[in-house]
Amino acid sequence: MTKKLVLNNISKVVGSDLTILKDICFEVVAGNILVLLGPSGSGKSTLLRAIAGLESFTGTMTWHGKKLNALDKGSIGLVFQNFQLFPHKTVLENLLLAPMLKGEKKDALKAKAKKFLKHFGLLEKEESYPHQLSGGQKQRIAIARALMMSPKILLLDEPTSALDPEMVGDVAALLADIKTSCDLLIVATHELRLAEKIADEILFLDHGYVAEFRHAPDFFKDPHSQRAKKFIANMH
Ligand SMILES: Nc1ncnc2c1ncn2[C@@H]1O[C@H](COP(=O)(O)OP(=O)(O)OP(=O)(O)O)[C@@H](O)[C@H]1O
Ligand SMILES: [Mg+2]
Repeated sequence: MTKKLVLNNISKVVGSDLTILKDICFEVVAGNILVLLGPSGSGKSTLLRAIAGLESFTGTMTWHGKKLNALDKGSIGLVFQNFQLFPHKTVLENLLLAPMLKGEKKDALKAKAKKFLKHFGLLEKEESYPHQLSGGQKQRIAIARALMMSPKILLLDEPTSALDPEMVGDVAALLADIKTSCDLLIVATHELRLAEKIADEILFLDHGYVAEFRHAPDFFKDPHSQRAKKFIANMH
């Protein structure tokens, strides 16, 4: 059976009446890149954090029929907008820390880390500290660190926002490259050019509800919702 992520009636209300996510329902099968698109404040980061288990919500989320919070630790990885590397740890230490807490053997983990560093062209940076890296290098380290846990689902929040706009193409290539390293990639962005390059499916959020959920080529050719039409028009 094809694996899929299913979200049913996901809502998040803060305080007595502030609704941040509203009745979000969708399913997406393994092997795809899902892009969460939408204006600032529409709920993209909140939804990613909810999927990662970092936000409370109502409703159900399952992967291959199993509740997300019942999956093994590390099954869902999140790469934050500003990467959140540990500043006083070297690149190699950043990669080893979380998997070592899971009790995995250091030698095997070191070999795995070096494989990722080599793959991302950063082997010579293993002893560097985060402040000695460029934005793009930090991002690749943050992604490598998430991949060290062998996540089934990898979530990325605004992967281009801390980078030079000219790097959109590089990030798109990087995401296409890591697509095969996990079952499902979910990327939150308000960068339309990135979404157009990488998305298989688009979930367009507006004020916390799903304004559209479509195959990406259909969405970009002919957005149905007024909000998405306006969003796309403003971006061109
Ligand atoms: N814990 C919280 N308490 C109160 N309001 C919150 C909380 N978390 C998020 N919000 C609000 O929820 C809304 C959605 O925020 P979120 O960060 O998910 O949006 P976003 O789509 O990621 O925006 P951006 O594109 O600017 O990153 C915003 O109005 C935000 O202020
Ligand atoms: Mg956000």
